Amino acid sequence: MDNNVYIPDPSTYQKSNVGGVGSDEEVKQLKSTVLRMQAELKRFENKPLLVGEVISVFENNEIMVKLKNGNVFCVGVKKGLEDKLDAGDEILLEQKNLTVIRKLGKIKNYDVEKFVIMEKPTVSWKDIGGLEKQILELKEVIEMPLKNPEKFRKIGIVPPNGVLLHGPPGTGKTILAKAVANSTDATFIEIVGSELVQKFIGQGAKLVKSIFQMAKEKAPTIIFIDEIDSIAATRVEMGTSGEREVQRTFMQLLAEIDGFDPLGDVKIIGATNRLDILDAAVIRPGRLDRLVEVDLPGKGGAEQILKIHTKNMKLEKDVNISKIVSALDEMSGAEIRAVAVEAGYFAMRAGRVTIKMKDFEMAVSKVRDEEEGDAEYLHYIN
Ligand SMILES: Nc1ncnc2c1ncn2[C@@H]1O[C@H](COP(=O)(O)OP(=O)(O)O)[C@@H](O)[C@H]1O
Ligand SMILES: [Mg+2]
Repeated sequence: MDNNVYIPDPSTYQKSNVGGVGSDEEVKQLKSTVLRMQAELKRFENKPLLVGEVISVFENNEIMVKLKNGNVFCVGVKKGLEDKLDAGDEILLEQKNLTVIRKLGKIKNYDVEKFVIMEKPTVSWKDIGGLEKQILELKEVIEMPLKNPEKFRKIGIVPPNGVLLHGPPGTGKTILAKAVANSTDATFIEIVGSELVQKFIGQGAKLVKSIFQMAKEKAPTIIFIDEIDSIAATRVEMGTSGEREVQRTFMQLLAEIDGFDPLGDVKIIGATNRLDILDAAVIRPGRLDRLVEVDLPGKGGAEQILKIHTKNMKLEKDVNISKIVSALDEMSGAEIRAVAVEAGYFAMRAGRVTIKMKDFEMAVSKVRDEEEGDAEYLHYIN
């Protein structure tokens, strides 16, 4: 037992009783109690111990911890460890009272592949309706430098370092990034900003570093950072350790982007619905300096999107596409897809495999109602 025991050592206990009130028998009993409790304490430190992370450290030495299952507790700390803990530390807790027993060292190596979505997308340009201008920009800024860096060297220009797609939800930002990864036969690594800061508390910065490392190993690679505003939002307060942690992750991200060769074989595409709150540092020259707006489709775009999502459906003669399109005003690509899916369901419920105009009419009002209700439905279909 080390110096962290709260129970007096039996030998000193005995000394303090020399010539005292206790009989020999009492001393013996107390001694054995102390020994038993020491053993008990020791047992607390036995494995298995729970693994958690420090979220906040309070002044009275109480610590807020988060277990791997997501539960958050306020716990005490073993003596001697009080001043050694910081937000983000990985710790071991004993199972009974969740007292923090030990601080784990920083993780040296972990399986980044478990933390990100990595795939070879199959979506292609022809699966995207409208957005011709945006597709052209991605071809020039991402595809050409990846496929033909020599061309740029010959002409003597440096392409933008990265692209930021911005616009309302469901307008095709993710699908655009996937399509460019497909057309360049690149590995597609998707990071979601909010997950980076919520799920991987204390590890965001480290994770960003590992992800960029892995991207180089799997090159050519497109790194897609969705919801980039959740790590790179302008904010004034820096009070809580959570905010500082997000800041650290953000700094690491900027450092990685700055270390990039624009003619190298790793490309970054960021996406956000909230350009208004995005930290300007992200879009400074040399970073994600090509802004591409992805807006709601116009009439032509809506028609193309509807055709793409109905191409495998059997439409009856009475289906009037242009009439449906005029009812799709202000809908995003994701909502238009929902209209197609819902029309299919209405037909199915009627026992048909062919789709009638009235199925589309009901589908449009259903999607409109959902839109007015809440956006949850959209999450569901995504
Ligand atoms: N322009 C579009 N063309 C075809 N389908 C689209 C388009 N925009 C959105 N969609 C459909 O909606 C889904 C969600 O779009 P997504 O790219 O995730 O939007 P965002 O990333 O902008 O929120 C896509 O998987 C696709 O099925
Ligand atoms: Mg998206």
